Amino acid sequence: MPALPLLIDTDTGSDDAVALLLATASGLGDVRAVTTVAGNVPLETGTRNALISLQTAGRRDIPVHPGCHRPMVRTLSSAQHVHGQDGMGDIGLPDPVAAPHDTHAVEVLLSLPRLYPDELTLVTLAPLTNIAAALLRDPSLLSRFRHVYCMAGAADFAGNVSPTAEFNVWADPEAARVVAQAATPDKVTWIGWDVSRRDAVMTPADQQRLERIGTPMATFAHRINRVVADWARDVTGLAGYDLPDPIAMAVALRPGLVVEREQVHVDIALDAQTRGQMIIDRRLTAPPPNLTLVRRVDETGFKNLLFDTVSNAVTL
Ligand code: RIB
Ligand code: CA
Repeated sequence: MPALPLLIDTDTGSDDAVALLLATASGLGDVRAVTTVAGNVPLETGTRNALISLQTAGRRDIPVHPGCHRPMVRTLSSAQHVHGQDGMGDIGLPDPVAAPHDTHAVEVLLSLPRLYPDELTLVTLAPLTNIAAALLRDPSLLSRFRHVYCMAGAADFAGNVSPTAEFNVWADPEAARVVAQAATPDKVTWIGWDVSRRDAVMTPADQQRLERIGTPMATFAHRINRVVADWARDVTGLAGYDLPDPIAMAVALRPGLVVEREQVHVDIALDAQTRGQMIIDRRLTAPPPNLTLVRRVDETGFKNLLFDTVSNAVTL
């Protein structure tokens, strides 16, 4: 099976970093470019973290294109309390060797799918600001990709950043609405925090297994997620830290991991109390579906892919 040509949009926090390892070191992905956006951390920090993560996977050749430095309308609310001030567990990672590329992320999002029509899979791991900005210039953008997978939303309305909203959609709800309005279910799949919370929780036993692998990538993945492990213990109350971006990336790389999905019409709430909440209409009179929502993923299959990938030795 040839590797999947990928374009990845990220706000590189500690879970995005693990998703980048999956995309580059599993043998399943052919990452053509990475675009960055403000979200978990400010744009410059997320760009630095993307460069570090790619270098850790032995792929500092992959171009990283910085994008939007703030949401479309709202001010940036980062998640540094979740992932650490540097977004990577505050373990003092050294500066990356490679530098960011000069071409803006939105230009890359517009040009690459025209260069490789219907060939690229776009995976978004962040607020959808870059994607929405590109859509405002090219309304047909999403149709130019082979498929678009977004780590976005919470289809069970149990939020992580608010009682009902998931961070990527909450951070820039206007951008999420622009993407949802432009989407068709055959082209766009969202993998929400409901999936991560149920099928991608790294239990203490999983964390111990990851730490014991001992390769550079496994040690990196374990160490950068220490702060988010504390947040999970103290705030979400999960059995460990969850990996929303890696499970979304795993679905893109191995769609066969999906156990349950549905096609529904989704809008995004913008008012104060329900900001970023998904408005899912399942009535018979609902508008036609615009998204495919993944609801369950094969947890064992996902974790085996993760452990196998980080067990690989890389040539830096
Ligand atoms: O809600 C989880 C999402 O928000 C993930 O993408 C995580 O990295 C943060 O950006
Ligand atoms: Ca992210």
